[in-house]
Amino acid sequence: MHDPDFIGDYQLCDSLTSNDNIYSDCEVFEAKNRKTNREVILKISRDKKRGKRELEVHSALSHEFIVNLLESFTTKSLRNVLIFEKYPRNLQELYSGETLESNRIQKFMKQLMMGIEYIHGMNFIHRDIKPDNLMLNENDCIKIGDFGLARVYDPDIEMTQEAVSLWYRPIEILLDSQNHTKSVDIWSAGCVMAELYRRCPLFQGEGQLSMINKIISVLGKPTLEEWPTLNELPAMRNVELNGPSITRFEDAIPNASKSSLDIIRHMIKYDPERRLSASQVLEHEYFKNDDISAKNNYEPEFP
Ligand SMILES: Nc1ncnc2c1ncn2[C@@H]1O[C@H](COP(=O)(O)OP(=O)(O)OP(=O)(O)O)[C@@H](O)[C@H]1O
Ligand SMILES: [Mg+2]
Repeated sequence: MHDPDFIGDYQLCDSLTSNDNIYSDCEVFEAKNRKTNREVILKISRDKKRGKRELEVHSALSHEFIVNLLESFTTKSLRNVLIFEKYPRNLQELYSGETLESNRIQKFMKQLMMGIEYIHGMNFIHRDIKPDNLMLNENDCIKIGDFGLARVYDPDIEMTQEAVSLWYRPIEILLDSQNHTKSVDIWSAGCVMAELYRRCPLFQGEGQLSMINKIISVLGKPTLEEWPTLNELPAMRNVELNGPSITRFEDAIPNASKSSLDIIRHMIKYDPERRLSASQVLEHEYFKNDDISAKNNYEPEFP
């Protein structure tokens, strides 16, 4: 329990900041408004620039499937404070505690992709889609949160590599691409979908190189045919890609239906330009009927 303390009208309660994210330069608390007694989430940035950017992006967005930003203000020491509606849990907590029926996974994916379609339509890239950044409200609806790494999409601006949490980081960023497109979020969302079926992350590497090897072990070694611009990526000067040329992708998600496997495969294509857009994902046959064929009773084997 954090020592009771106030920021503006908000009494700070428990800290929610994770210790495992080296890029995290903000603190997140459960908090209570002393005037209204409303319980909220309070996020305060140590880094002024980052806090300002998160505020700029999040306040431009308002959507059914995006975390509701209630207010923002600046402290005397000029730190940005963001106040969010508080939701009962996130997707990580949900699937760790209970098995999900495949039609519930389908519902979450539809909501996630509608949220991403909206974000991309507003010309932003989220760049940190992962289960613990996806809240769930009382009605079991997704609320995309944490716009701390989000940016306006501009093909002429090179972006920093420290984007997207490692396990959800697309192959091109692992290979040092500075050109982050909207397809970055599609890769991450594909990893989230696979994770909901598998009940553990799809690519759980310990570092950049280990991530690349894990991806190749599931998708096979990329060819120039499927990814013509592969050799233009900066890291390709120093890294030699090794691994099987043919794999059985479906073995990585043994309990997923044929159409769910197909949509995931098209979301995690090597070539970012060949990944489906959010709108194309939503038009995929996977969403046409209730996905009841797959039973999500798979128990992952932990090492
Ligand atoms: N609106 C909310 N309702 C409930 N819980 C929330 C809310 N916003 C954030 N959280 C919880 O607090 C955690 C940290 O928040 P957030 O992801 O915004 O900060 P962060 O410092 O960028 O975190 P990380 O570096 O771990 O991604 C989230 O993973 C989530 O579990
Ligand atoms: Mg986060």
